[in-house]
Amino acid sequence: MIIPILDTYPGSQCPVKRANQELQALWSTMLPRSSTIPIIGKVPWGLIASMEIETNRLILRRWQSSDVEPFVSLNADPRVMEFFPATLSRTETEAMISTIEERIGRDGFGFWAAELKESKGFIGFIGLNVPGYLLPFSPCVEVGWRLAFDCWGKGYAQEGARAALAFGFGSVGLKEIVSFTTVNNVRSRRVMERIGMTYDSQGDFDHPELPLRHPLRRHVLYRKVRSA
Ligand SMILES: CC(C)(COP(=O)(O)OP(=O)(O)OC[C@H]1O[C@@H](n2cnc3c(N)ncnc32)[C@H](O)[C@@H]1OP(=O)(O)O)[C@@H](O)C(=O)NCCC(=O)NCCS
Repeated sequence: MIIPILDTYPGSQCPVKRANQELQALWSTMLPRSSTIPIIGKVPWGLIASMEIETNRLILRRWQSSDVEPFVSLNADPRVMEFFPATLSRTETEAMISTIEERIGRDGFGFWAAELKESKGFIGFIGLNVPGYLLPFSPCVEVGWRLAFDCWGKGYAQEGARAALAFGFGSVGLKEIVSFTTVNNVRSRRVMERIGMTYDSQGDFDHPELPLRHPLRRHVLYRKVRSA
């Protein structure tokens, strides 16, 4: 399993590389891999990687080339990116899609492209992800979302996220799913609360990918454990 790293430190002393190795070791204990078709949860891997998730109004699916343009616009919108360090360029957006797709192929789940059933229009992403950096609560699987501004306020994020949680606990067999965001991202925190996640008051942390004293560095952590 390869987890992409930020290769800012050359040489073997790179703390991110060391953390990443540690993360890989931990993560490999959670999802068994083999050269035959692995089974995670109840469903064969090859099947879940190509699976689509359908809700009342949405389809969560693998990414398509037609998603690139709307995702470039979404990531260039300062309203959508208010709680991220910066908007993203076309090149950064294309790289992000490649990383997401690679992870769906690797893990059988990921930040799926979200499509409106009615219009077949791409509206952003919703899904599950293994963060590519070490966090205080690693190894973990997060549930996350990013929608085009015009699609906010319609309940799409929570609808897709509920389905993603059900998939993670059911088909993948995860015991816990987390979610995290910068302290002031109230909209995202509301989604976490609406889908039944619990704020871990002991879990606030500084995001390891953001520099010291960055205004977005402090993050809150929400958890949801699989019900028996
Ligand atoms: C975070 C984000 C996905 C939340 O989107 P959202 O549309 O507010 O979230 P929901 O799907 O839960 O929708 C809730 C809203 O839809 C309304 N709504 C309308 N129809 C609804 C329906 N059928 N069902 C449920 N809610 C509905 C709710 O009343 C609520 O409105 P309110 O915000 O005025 O209270 C969105 O703000 C976003 O993409 N932000 C940028 C990216 C980001 O920050 N991602 C998180 C990083 S950790």
